Amino acid sequence: HLDNRVKIVEVGPRDGLQNEKKSIPLATKIDLIERLARTGLSSIEAGAFVSPKWVPQMSNSGQILQHILQRDIPSRTPLTFSFLAPNMTGMNDASAIFARHPTAFETETQRAASAAAGKTTAETTGQASKPAFEIAVFAAATESFSQRNLNCDIATALARFAPVIQAAKDGGLRVRAYISVVLGCPFEGRDVDPHRVAELATDLLEMGADEIALGDTTGMGTAPRTRALLACLRSAGVLPEDLAMHFHDTYGQALVNTAVALEHGIRTFDAAVGGLGGCPYSPGATGNVATEDMVYFLESLGMRTGVDLDAVADIGAWITREVGKPHESSVGKAVIGA
Ligand code: HMG
Ligand code: MG
Repeated sequence: HLDNRVKIVEVGPRDGLQNEKKSIPLATKIDLIERLARTGLSSIEAGAFVSPKWVPQMSNSGQILQHILQRDIPSRTPLTFSFLAPNMTGMNDASAIFARHPTAFETETQRAASAAAGKTTAETTGQASKPAFEIAVFAAATESFSQRNLNCDIATALARFAPVIQAAKDGGLRVRAYISVVLGCPFEGRDVDPHRVAELATDLLEMGADEIALGDTTGMGTAPRTRALLACLRSAGVLPEDLAMHFHDTYGQALVNTAVALEHGIRTFDAAVGGLGGCPYSPGATGNVATEDMVYFLESLGMRTGVDLDAVADIGAWITREVGKPHESSVGKAVIGA
């Protein structure tokens, strides 16, 4: 049944690693991405074209993109890789790499056509399936967070996203637009105005974003406030199929809030293997909800993620060891018997 299908967007390689002080070798990042690709996950956020002075850990994202374009990465399902780009400096860096490999990926139009036909391009052509790509811009629901994260106000950020979104679409790439701090801001507190979020979501969709990812950056969100936010978005005309939820699990509420979003009709959820992560501009925030916990939870409700839980749990144990982080996934630890 179509309605039972849920997409998990694995953000471990980007959100999970961006905050690590110690530089993680390129080979480890690539290994992580390739392991994740074999678990049945269809969407992987793989890097960020941001300032290396601000987020040094993401500075080799160009090499990661280059690698993905040059290799056939074995997977169970057609893959989409996502990269953040907050301005034209980042977008131009990404475009230059795509331009060197113009036939190494499927455009958004090709991917949509094969989805409509119910067959992957690989099934139609008999050739190996090529990845598709997505560019993610990231706005904030409060002025304070926008200043810390992007060094500009919200209006300026939107103006900078416009040509990024246009260039991505022209290049055959899908566009995701994050809105951070939708359920609490480290600088302005928990009462973030849901109407402001709805306004931003509407603006970003009108600018051409294919999807809005609502970020509970601080993990302060609760079930009632998640419900209120989603109700506000619905009355503003934002459809659940245009939304993804991006829960950090700092307060342990991510799965409860996921249940609320599921009831609301949302079918795309972000997670990071091993519960890796934290945002450099959100003091004290811990990682995204763990992919292992998300898969276990969704499958327990009869939803279909297509993701092999045992395989993801092995990766969670491996990468937390590699990075020297505590393993944050309860399900992951239980599954591997740790
Ligand atoms: P800025 O310093 O205001 O930019 O940065 P600028 O345009 O004034 O340029 C200053 C210098 O930065 C110049 O270099 C530019 O070339 C360079 P210089 O001439 O001094 O040598 N520069 C860049 N270099 C590489 N890539 C670029 C780029 N842009 C400028 N794209 C900027 C503005 C937004 C770029 C900067 O503030 C930045 O990169 N910030 C980091 C933002 C970030 O990565 N945050 C974390 C990701 S968002 C997140 O985690 C939240 C999320 O998970 C959702 C949630 O949980 O809510 C998505
Ligand atoms: Mg995040």
